[in-house]
Amino acid sequence: MGRGFRLRGLTNIDQRLEQISYLLSLPELDHFSDIFDKDQPVYLEVGMGRGNFIYQNALRYPERNFIGLDQAGILVLKASERMEEKPNLKLMVGDFEEVQLHFPDESLAGIFLNFSDPWPKTRHHKRRLTHRRFLEMYDRLLQPGGEIRFKTDREDLFDFSLKELSETGRQVLAVTRDLHADERYPDNIMTEYESKFSQMGHPIYGLIYRK
Ligand SMILES: C[S@@+](CC[C@H](N)C(=O)[O-])C[C@H]1O[C@@H](n2cnc3c(N)ncnc32)[C@H](O)[C@@H]1O
Repeated sequence: MGRGFRLRGLTNIDQRLEQISYLLSLPELDHFSDIFDKDQPVYLEVGMGRGNFIYQNALRYPERNFIGLDQAGILVLKASERMEEKPNLKLMVGDFEEVQLHFPDESLAGIFLNFSDPWPKTRHHKRRLTHRRFLEMYDRLLQPGGEIRFKTDREDLFDFSLKELSETGRQVLAVTRDLHADERYPDNIMTEYESKFSQMGHPIYGLIYRK
């Protein structure tokens, strides 16, 4: 099948995503050790949105590798438009639940969950990225000593997350209800949602879980 024919079946967004040289595909995950040039710790952000957080991390920590994942292709595209290619950064479009199946066991040094969708209705709590069924997926992916770092402006989601961790016997390493005033986070990198909500005067909640 010629490339021209195949392209006609793709949406405009898909076509533009295909131009991103550092976009990671599912099959590439099956050869995990070949993804990055350097063999160094890999960090994943689930739901990176417009990508400031993961990009700034990649610039600040060249000795770490980063994958920014979002299910919304348009956001990954917009994120890429504000980035330059870096050897330690890959972007990916996909739903974490499907994508995670392709990560090897204990392949990640850290997982970032930033301002995850709150899913306020009780019947939707299972979709929250800190629901215990997701915690099990993260535990498979994390290396021993690997961390989940979670930030949100939503107190209800934060309390729910603490409860999920404690009820499943997981110890939390650090908890803050005002991350921007907390001296344990001197090198905090802000996300787009974080800038917006902190400017509106919302406190930012944060927790760290170490496997
Ligand atoms: C509220 S936004 C926060 C974006 C960004 N982290 C920030 O703080 O600015 C949540 C993002 O998570 C993405 N998302 C939600 N569930 C996801 C999933 N299961 N897999 C991948 N991305 C997901 C959404 O598409 C959305 O872009």
